[in-house]
Amino acid sequence: MRRWRFLRTLRARLTVTHLIAMLVVTAVYATIVSALIVRNASQSLDDRLRNDFRWAATMAQQNPDGRFTWFEDDERPENNPWLNVSNSDGETIYRTPVAIRSPVPESEWLVNNADGSIAIVPNDGIPFRVLSGQANIAGQPVVIQIGRSEFFMREELAEFFLVLVIGLPLSVTVTSLVGYWLARRSLSPLERMTKYAQAITADRLDERLPFDNPRDEIGRLVNAFNALLDRLEESFQQARQFTSDVSHELRTPLTVMRSVGEVGLRGDRDATDYRTIVGSMLEEVNRLTDLVDRLLTLSRSDIGSLKLKAETVELGELADGIVSDLDVLAEEKNQTLSVERVDSALCVADGVVLRQALINIVDNAIKYSPSASQIRIRTFTVGAHSSLEVRDMGPGIPPDLQQRIFDRFYRYGPDASGNIGVGLGLAIAKSFIEANGGELVCESVAGEGSCFRVQLPRKSLPANPEGCR
Ligand SMILES: Nc1ncnc2c1ncn2[C@@H]1O[C@H](COP(=O)(O)OP(=O)(O)O)[C@@H](O)[C@H]1O
Ligand SMILES: [Mg+2]
Repeated sequence: MRRWRFLRTLRARLTVTHLIAMLVVTAVYATIVSALIVRNASQSLDDRLRNDFRWAATMAQQNPDGRFTWFEDDERPENNPWLNVSNSDGETIYRTPVAIRSPVPESEWLVNNADGSIAIVPNDGIPFRVLSGQANIAGQPVVIQIGRSEFFMREELAEFFLVLVIGLPLSVTVTSLVGYWLARRSLSPLERMTKYAQAITADRLDERLPFDNPRDEIGRLVNAFNALLDRLEESFQQARQFTSDVSHELRTPLTVMRSVGEVGLRGDRDATDYRTIVGSMLEEVNRLTDLVDRLLTLSRSDIGSLKLKAETVELGELADGIVSDLDVLAEEKNQTLSVERVDSALCVADGVVLRQALINIVDNAIKYSPSASQIRIRTFTVGAHSSLEVRDMGPGIPPDLQQRIFDRFYRYGPDASGNIGVGLGLAIAKSFIEANGGELVCESVAGEGSCFRVQLPRKSLPANPEGCR
């Protein structure tokens, strides 16, 4: 398809389409206009012949000798028409000088068919129209023949066609050139965009495309493209941050394992020492496994490969199950863990995934709250939502950190026992709840405690048909 290579650009395709459309439209238009003009010219020549016939029938003069002559315009004899009058025997009784000068042989035959019709006969290559009709002059039946050449009509038509033949290609060429120029001008910002976009690489994601008019189509496209770059830059930034956080987290247990190993190899030790060393190395291996597991869960949830079931879950029941599992941890710190079910909070979610999310939240409440404090879980419904709240009496979270605590690896300060966590618990909880169509928010007043609220779309019970009656 080498021949069509010039059509590769949008500009060329627009121009060619425009040109073809112009050609088709002007050709159709010119054909219709030409047909109308030819028909009108022919009709008006026929009308003139009929007028001439009526004129000829009234302009007869009878000479004293009984012969007929016709009024002739002597000053402008060229105005006199071609006129031939015959008597009922077919003999010519009068002829204008024009008819004498240019005899039309077919006219003799037409005398016998004088029914008022117009015949077209060839005359020196230029068609000649002859109207032959019966008339009555001074009581005598005669045949009047009036003729006119198509010469002037053809001359006018030729002029018109000349204008068409020169004018149409000229106007098509001019409009095509204007179309090409317009296409070029309108598409030039796209070319600029292409060059800029080609220059943007992963290291230069902060660059943005320029635009002239933010409201036109190109401006809106550039805006959308720049917004895409914003999102790309943000997710590249997050990915970089995540990779560096993960490497950092993996380093700590690895460093611990190496130093424990190095210390173990220094000098001779007895079996109990080696058991202690291997034990603490295994502890670090467990930490690593736990970290890797959590990361895997998070990335599965990120790419949407978490297979979610759609089960009917009652949040109160779920809370009871979690409390019976985590009560041991709370008891260790002498804390009370209670559930208050305000009303039946039904929702459609994956029970196991939702449970994992809630365990992370309740586990935090236990970890970050002081001994002998209360942790209250409340389940209720508001409007179209079923909710679960975990309220503790811990240190609370400052307002500026209430969003950040959901970021991966973000943690601050040690828990009540002085341990520093990994910072993935809330990120996992949020991601799991959102995967189930819900929302996790934190409300907290520093120094007074925190409240984590899970909101899920409420599942309404099927209407009781008995009750409807
Ligand atoms: N109930 C809570 N009270 C006070 N601070 C909390 C509470 N829950 C979470 N946080 C803060 O949010 C941070 C992130 O929590 P999380 O993602 O679970 O990580 P981790 O528990 O592993 O440190 C914690 O480091 C802690 O500072
Ligand atoms: Mg946690």
